[in-house]
Amino acid sequence: MAMKRSRTALITGITGQDGSYLAELLLANGYIVYGMIRRSSVFNIDRIEHLYQDPHVADYRLRLVYGNLTDGSRITQLLAEIKPDEIYNLGAQSHVQVSFEQPEYTGDVDAVGVTRLLESVRALGLNSRVYLACSSEMFGNAPAPQSEQTPLMPRSPYAAAKAYAFWMGKSYREAYGLFIANGILFNHESPRRGPTFVTRKITRAVARIAAGKQKTLYLGNLDACRDWGYAPDYVEGMWMMLQAKKPDDFVLATGESHSVREFCELAFARAKLDWRKHVKHDKRYLRPAEVDHLCGDASKARKQLGWKPRVKFEELVNIMVDADVEAVATGRDDFRSEERWFK
Ligand code: NAP
Ligand code: GDD
Repeated sequence: MAMKRSRTALITGITGQDGSYLAELLLANGYIVYGMIRRSSVFNIDRIEHLYQDPHVADYRLRLVYGNLTDGSRITQLLAEIKPDEIYNLGAQSHVQVSFEQPEYTGDVDAVGVTRLLESVRALGLNSRVYLACSSEMFGNAPAPQSEQTPLMPRSPYAAAKAYAFWMGKSYREAYGLFIANGILFNHESPRRGPTFVTRKITRAVARIAAGKQKTLYLGNLDACRDWGYAPDYVEGMWMMLQAKKPDDFVLATGESHSVREFCELAFARAKLDWRKHVKHDKRYLRPAEVDHLCGDASKARKQLGWKPRVKFEELVNIMVDADVEAVATGRDDFRSEERWFK
């Protein structure tokens, strides 16, 4: 009897928060995982280091390849070689504020990068199922709760680029019959979250303040509300979208929205600190245009995919604070990061 072939997945953005959790999930499910990484002078694989496999062993299933979403010919070459059953496009310039400073580059990677990928799949005649990482940021200030029916009203170069990607996904699905799932994910966080996103910026500061290594945390708009979930729950939803009978668009969210202020209150309280004594305002963190209130309605994903987030707001805050407190206690908080330079 012929052995069942392992399924093969390509993840762009494998070194990011979501890419690392998704790689864990796929490897645990027997996939061969190709991770596309960018060449950089410092080998940037902190989040997937624990998944390392010796390339010389028989069951070598995590394979890193160089590539870039700005490089279409390389993407075509990789897809022709790998012929993945599933492609997860998570690679992006993912910071909203940075997108105001680098709008052209953000569009090149987050928008045109998706066209490069889809064109390669189409031109090579592959049957790969494709997941596109779209974003709740695309809704802008459309009234909450936002669902798949809510009109897109992007308010940043990042959101505009993601909206372009979203519509390219829909177009290629309709025009060429490709299996393309658009995941409209609301904010999801974890101890692996980049340190300049607000949640991680807060939890790292809490841990450092509790340890006497920092006094003040500077933040921008405390009134913005986000629907914050836990990243491992969300990568499961990405996988579920590619196992569905038909490709579609899906919102993933917790259905609860909280302000940045509430996140601060809980995070500082977890370390027995009063946030008002440590948080100061700095206008440099205000955005040229803000998205005020995101709160997602994920009932379609619940009904059609059986997806449900397990971790809610307070537990998420606790997970993140506890992880950063432990990192400081064990000397793993080296603070050499971007945060120190760009706060
Ligand atoms: P992240 O931690 O910022 O990771 C982004 C990944 O993209 C990194 O691996 C990064 O590589 C890679 N990347 C950046 N530029 C690239 C390029 N030009 N070519 C190829 N790869 C590139 O983001 P995340 O939080 O995991 O999010 C994953 C995806 O979901 C992103 O597309 C993001 O926009 C989207 N999204 C995220 C959320 C959220 O709340 N986390 C919500 C909705 C949508 P380096 O490590 O080399 O920088
Ligand atoms: N980053 C940051 N730094 N944000 C701050 C700060 C600060 O010092 N102070 C207040 N905020 C507010 C921002 O103005 C925003 O309203 C909110 O905190 C969340 O900001 P981020 O954590 O940077 O995330 P985001 O919501 O802009 O974008 C994230 O979620 C999107 C999904 O809605 C990113 O992960 C995007 O890639 C993702 O698509």
